[in-house]
Amino acid sequence: MTALNINAQIAVIGAGAMGAGIAQVAAQAGHPVLLLDNRPGAAAQAIEGIDRQLGKRVEKGKLSDQARLATVARLQAVDNIAALADCALIIEAIVESLEVKRALFRQLESLCGEHCMLVSNTSSLSITSIAAQLDHPQRLLGLHFFNPAPVMALVEIVSGLASDPSLAECLYDTAKAWGKKPVHTRSTPGFIVNRVARSFYAENLRLLQEGAADCPTLDALMRDAGGFAMGAFELTDLIGHDVNYAVTCSVFDAYYGDTRFLPSLIQKELVDAGRLGRKSGQGFYHYADGITRAQPTEVTSRAVVDTCVVEGDLGVANALLARLREHGVEVIQRDGHGVVRVGDAVLALSDGRMACQRAREDGLDNLILFDLAFDYGQASRIAVSCCANIDPTALQQGVALLQRAGLSVSQLSDSPALAVMRTVATLANEAADAVLHGVASAADVDLAMRAGVNYPQGPLAWADAIGLGHILTVLDNLQAGYGEERYRPSLLLRRRVAEGRALHD
Ligand code: NAI
Repeated sequence: MTALNINAQIAVIGAGAMGAGIAQVAAQAGHPVLLLDNRPGAAAQAIEGIDRQLGKRVEKGKLSDQARLATVARLQAVDNIAALADCALIIEAIVESLEVKRALFRQLESLCGEHCMLVSNTSSLSITSIAAQLDHPQRLLGLHFFNPAPVMALVEIVSGLASDPSLAECLYDTAKAWGKKPVHTRSTPGFIVNRVARSFYAENLRLLQEGAADCPTLDALMRDAGGFAMGAFELTDLIGHDVNYAVTCSVFDAYYGDTRFLPSLIQKELVDAGRLGRKSGQGFYHYADGITRAQPTEVTSRAVVDTCVVEGDLGVANALLARLREHGVEVIQRDGHGVVRVGDAVLALSDGRMACQRAREDGLDNLILFDLAFDYGQASRIAVSCCANIDPTALQQGVALLQRAGLSVSQLSDSPALAVMRTVATLANEAADAVLHGVASAADVDLAMRAGVNYPQGPLAWADAIGLGHILTVLDNLQAGYGEERYRPSLLLRRRVAEGRALHD
């Protein structure tokens, strides 16, 4: 099946933030669009709002006035559902209530011809469940846009138990024709993005709760080492803690209390206090005028180091060696188990154990663990952790070496898998489980996380690049260290490691 014909009549029900954005997308693509809202005047106001938005783009020279006029001319506010009878596609973006959505779709089913596709923009309700009371549940699917719909490229095409696969293909092609990046997903709680992204928030909140570092430091590490556009605290302040916390609770409940999705008491307290983030003026950070945000904490060293000895292969962190050489450090290589020796210090990439534990188990005195970086050649910051009883001179030497590579160094308390490593390992783990459970393909999961939440790389491709064996070890060590099911590795990871295959094979 191909995309809907550009002349096909489309309707959007609900003229709020999402409905207005979706109507704009469809009209800009060239479709005639009817907009309906049960609040009198809301649909017309939404169209005026779209016109204003497009007007700003015209002023900036990003859109022609002709295109603005043509788009707005394709939008029509209607106040009676009967006007929707001849539509080819009806997109529902009303209040997030199962009963209200079910009632609306039953009404639409009796009104519209059998060839009209019915879709919901729901974020958290089951498409299977919304469709269950229809005479023809196969005609209902999810079409999940991200906010703001005209800007965000991702659209999740959600199939319920009864959904017709040929309609999913038509929606996929249509979304593509609208300039979007569609992915297929089965109707499971959180679909792809709102499920896989949970650990990004959860692990950072846990690190904060355990006193590993403060918000500015953890945020800076996610950006400067992890390559994420924003850290978890600045991002949840932007999303709104009420919204972010509600999504976490809904996914947690929907997976019967699986601790992988455990909500955070720290975030709940913010919600209870009304500190909802930017919109209320305070969340993890203050947003009043004149308040400057605290800087990330850093350790600095004046030790002079010109040489280091690399024993064995550092795996994904090998790029660090080229960077050290570029900065004039002599790097001597010999056989060994993947550690760097400098002065009295030993540096190693985190494997998910705490430094104190690994130092004892592996007989490594003055061990300094360093964190994962998205790109060791480009990162501007790295996290380290060490045993409390490390020789201070050795710590200075280890930090000095990383500084020689041009890295700012932020020290965390001795936390298993530090910050970026634990975040990426748990994201990849959830993504692997989503693939294992048939929620989506590996390619679609990775695309969804790049296009839906702007991750620098899909978690599965990222895990492949780090080495699945290492990710599995990190998760096994996290599970053993915390004694929690939360970190249990996905069967798919374990299977692929045993088979010697990557997740994208
Ligand atoms: P909103 O509250 O901004 O807009 C909802 C609109 O629907 C309101 O204008 C309301 O008057 C209208 N409405 C409510 N019941 C109606 C009915 N029975 N018939 C006609 N109009 C009705 O909500 P928002 O944020 O636009 O969300 C709409 C849907 O999109 C929800 O299902 C939500 O879960 C989903 N969604 C929201 C996202 C977001 O970031 N806000 C992202 C992706 C999906």
